[in-house]
Amino acid sequence: MSGHNVWTHKGTFLLAAVGSAVGLGNLWRFPYLTGENGGGAFILVYALTIFAVGIPILIAEIMLGRTSRQSPIMGMRHLTKTHGTSRAWETIGWLGAASAFLILSFYSVIAGWAIHYTWLMLTGSLVGADAQTISTGFDALLAAPGLMTLYHTLFIAASALIVGMGIHKGIESGLRIMMPALFVILLVVLAYGVINGDIGAAASFLFTFNIADLSLEGWLQAMGQSFFTLSLGMGAIMAYGAYMPSNVSLTRTAFAVAIVDTAVAMVAGLAIFALVFGAGLETGQGPGLMFVTLPLAFAEMPFGALVGGVFFILVLGAAISSSISLIEPVAAFLVERFDMTRPQAVTIMVIAAWAMGLLTVVSFNLWAEGTIFHTLFGRTAFDFIELLTNIFMPVGGLLIALFAGWALTQSEVMKELGSSVAWFKLWRFLVRFVAPAAVAFVFLRTLPQVEGYLIPTLGALLIIGAFAASQRWLKKPRQTT
Ligand code: PFF
Repeated sequence: MSGHNVWTHKGTFLLAAVGSAVGLGNLWRFPYLTGENGGGAFILVYALTIFAVGIPILIAEIMLGRTSRQSPIMGMRHLTKTHGTSRAWETIGWLGAASAFLILSFYSVIAGWAIHYTWLMLTGSLVGADAQTISTGFDALLAAPGLMTLYHTLFIAASALIVGMGIHKGIESGLRIMMPALFVILLVVLAYGVINGDIGAAASFLFTFNIADLSLEGWLQAMGQSFFTLSLGMGAIMAYGAYMPSNVSLTRTAFAVAIVDTAVAMVAGLAIFALVFGAGLETGQGPGLMFVTLPLAFAEMPFGALVGGVFFILVLGAAISSSISLIEPVAAFLVERFDMTRPQAVTIMVIAAWAMGLLTVVSFNLWAEGTIFHTLFGRTAFDFIELLTNIFMPVGGLLIALFAGWALTQSEVMKELGSSVAWFKLWRFLVRFVAPAAVAFVFLRTLPQVEGYLIPTLGALLIIGAFAASQRWLKKPRQTT
């Protein structure tokens, strides 16, 4: 056992996990990916993976954290020893650290845009502005790498300060107010969208589908998004699980996180698309979607500058509570493994992610479409990093599912789950077979189309390797049924 202490309040884990899950993934990434992928079919794949794959893996991931009570890498090392399995399962921790690092790098840049809009709102700069002005303003932000770097620096530094000072002090009470406030203000925007936008068109865009409309990369993006939005498959939730008191229900917590997270995404999606259709904007405009549509609503609504200012502050709060969960697993590892102090560990992680974030900054200007980088690689660095995380998170989730499903003993899992045998059996069936099969299905279907031969080979190798090795790595399977 490590020196990990356990959170004293029962609700702290739920709060921290919701804080991690709800963020730019719901407000910015979900609407923009849905818009780019034609709506309903994307949501269908996303929702199916949330419920059939996401929730079981969420449970598995918290369970691994809580039984090991260490950071993901050290925790997996510990579990492989106590369960007589191969050390290769530590890959879960390493892959998670790599994903956390990649995600933090672009997450902070996008959160930086929210700083810009908070400022524009509070100074009233956009009051009465029309769609044209707002979209030109957004393009101007994208064209300014210096300004974007400044915001990126501010955001990542603020996150680092919070994690460096110790994870849950202050955050907890902040989240208790912020999360409900965010939801309420989203409902206000939705109400505005219902009155002034076209909610009918939004609903039919989001909830009617023709699965054939979804491109192959769309499948990968939908699955990747369901992992992304639940903060799954990369150790963030495992790291928090290490602090979760043993008497809190895993199942109930996991469902609560998934339901709250999905609700936020749906309300955000409905509000944004009601505005998009109402104003005749483009659904597939990409990463700028939220930053162009919502300010338009705030420009027109009564007290819009104030409502918009508060809204973007809450977006920033939600983003910070997610970004600290990206820093935590890597920082905790550095502390445990190299005896660093917390501030040292956080500084190293954050400086590296900051530097990597510059690639995202230039993806929108110096190395944007039409420049040499894009011509050479066929996509921007930001697109490439997103693609990598869309692969890494599900692979990480797959490994977590296999380890929790096959290596943990029945009595161990029953103790953790603390529920009926029927639910245990269903859960184990989901993590043993359904989740791995679903992830493999999407990979095999998608990857050949994504990046020539390189990625399919990589993906197939990873999957075959994981399946084959899971049997060999689990030297002594302890479960018989
Ligand atoms: N779930 C966060 C969001 O939806 O904004 C993003 C995220 C946080 C992803 C933490 C992964 C993670 F480990």
